[in-house]
Parts: sequence; structure tokens; C-alpha cells
Amino acid sequence: MVTNDRNIVITGFMGTGKTTVGRLLAERLGRPFIDTDAEIVQRMGLSIPEIFAREGETGFRHIEQRICRFLAAQRGLVIATGGGMLVDAGNRSVMLASGTVVCLVASPEAIETRLKNEADERPLLRGDWRALLEQRRTAYDAIPTHVDTSDKTPEQVVEEIIFLWQQTASV
Ligand code: S3P
Repeated sequence: MVTNDRNIVITGFMGTGKTTVGRLLAERLGRPFIDTDAEIVQRMGLSIPEIFAREGETGFRHIEQRICRFLAAQRGLVIATGGGMLVDAGNRSVMLASGTVVCLVASPEAIETRLKNEADERPLLRGDWRALLEQRRTAYDAIPTHVDTSDKTPEQVVEEIIFLWQQTASV
């Protein structure tokens, strides 16, 4: 097998398990783990709701775009993106070029259960998130690799991702 030090990028809608799965995957592979929201919060010294309140969604997306390019230029990372980062076609192609991108998906029922009482942390949950999920479907579908997390444990999802990643790692 050829060593693959390209990034592994976990994306998908809010509540699909990106951060939990990404952190576990990084531990399993002994790689550094970066959560793009946590990175933004650390750099800005503001929470995500505070950034949305001060800069609007447009301001948040600009910051997100810069972080996306910064992380894509590195190697050997496991990156969990915010749910909207790869909806942008430019961000998507930058990350697809930087490594293996896996889009996590889940049923609306599973998402609802996971996101109950989380609207304080996620400004976009205050609106109609089901409509937002529909709006984003084409963008998520443009990512070639999907893993459904609805009825799986994070450990099962990690196993599936490692299997898929090994297909791309061995040439
Ligand atoms: C967003 C998802 C959030 C965060 C921000 C916007 C989105 O990340 O980046 O609230 O546009 O879907 P999570 O998917 O980690 O909740």
C-alpha cells in the first residue's frame, strides 16, 4: 500500500455526526484533528452565534472560506467541516483536491433527535432546517462518497470510512 498523507475531510449537514466521527477517526489513525468551527471560534475569539450576530452569515462564510483554503494546503489532517462549508462549490473543489472527502448523511428523524435543544449553538437551526437540508441536497450530492450515519454507532461509521479511505489510499 502506498502511504497516503492527504487529508481526510468529513462533511455533511448539521447533526450527521461530523465532529464525533472525525475526532474518533483521527484517534484511530493517529492524526491531528481539526474542527473548522472550533478553529474559527479560536481565531476570532467569538462563538459561532456571536459571529453570525456581528458579521451576518455572509461574514461567517468569508471566514470559513479562508479557513478552508488554509487547511486544504496542509497534509495528514482529519478535518470535520461546519455543515455549510462545502455547500460552496469553490470550497468543495479545494477540499476534494486536498484529500478524501466523506459526506455524512442521516435521516431527518435522526438529525432532529441529535439536534434537539441545540439552536443556541447553531443559528441556522432557528429557521426551517428541513428546507435548508433540501436546498443543499445538490451540493452534498456533488461529493462522490457518502456514509449514512442514521442507525450506526460512531465506531461503525469510522470503520466504514477507514475501509473507503483505504480504497483510495492503495494505488
Ligand atoms: C452551519 C453548521 C454549523 C456551523 C454554523 C453553520 C451550516 O456547523 O458551521 O452554525 O451552515 O450548516 P455544524 O454542522 O458542525 O453544526
